[in-house]
Amino acid sequence: MAIRRPVIAGNWKMFKTVSEAEDYAVKFLEEVKDVTDLDIILCAPFTALYPLKNELEESIVHLGAQNMAWADEGAYTGEISAQMLQDVACTYVILGHSERREMFGETDGEINKKVKKALTVGLTPILCVGENLNLREEGKAVERVQGQVSRALEGLSTEELSRIIVAYEPIWAIGTGKTASSKDAQQMCASIRATLTSLMGLDAEKIPILYGGSVKADNIAELMTEPDVDGALVGGASLDPLNFAKLIINANPLPARVEGI
Ligand code: 13P
Repeated sequence: MAIRRPVIAGNWKMFKTVSEAEDYAVKFLEEVKDVTDLDIILCAPFTALYPLKNELEESIVHLGAQNMAWADEGAYTGEISAQMLQDVACTYVILGHSERREMFGETDGEINKKVKKALTVGLTPILCVGENLNLREEGKAVERVQGQVSRALEGLSTEELSRIIVAYEPIWAIGTGKTASSKDAQQMCASIRATLTSLMGLDAEKIPILYGGSVKADNIAELMTEPDVDGALVGGASLDPLNFAKLIINANPLPARVEGI
């Protein structure tokens, strides 16, 4: 039997100054302080991480970044290392988001190096994968997503694999208001779990797989009923603290996700 604890992560993308982040944290913590049945993560811009460390200390909300370098330190102008993230109490990091792949040219090879580095220092990577509309229409979505998962996780030990989170984010559903149907989300999350199983065996049942793409307070509950959708990575709907808190409360996870294996 494997039990997966649900995860709801907010990805603020390039939004919020320090004062906006601090103001958000105060309001948000008040709303979610009684949530016990899922893990909550806020993935903030680099500049807001240190102030959020202070605001979120001793709270139930975990801190995450949205990217990091694969190198430890050195002449890498503009980069932020895994150790720097740890220094500001980050425990999670989004890696391979489609916006980084598409706009900043990140490759599967680089993402693989970043995943390895994050795991080496003890950060939990939230590995993002997802197909664009053309691939979906051509019937190649599963092939693309499974390939992205395999390439990003190449060379990892079973123990390392057991410490990752995967987020399925179809590019056509990001910021468009077009959510994948819960059945489509389930189908792809199950395909991702099948790939994980081929890499790590039955331990794949323990890996949280999230869905991302226009998740809102009014569609989260249905997504969460799917057996392989263990939570969500939320962009736009995480920007307002009350709205995001409502989404989290509406997620209403089953007491435990129990899969017979
Ligand atoms: P939206 O929730 O705004 O569609 O963004 C999803 C996303 O990219 C989260 O990483």
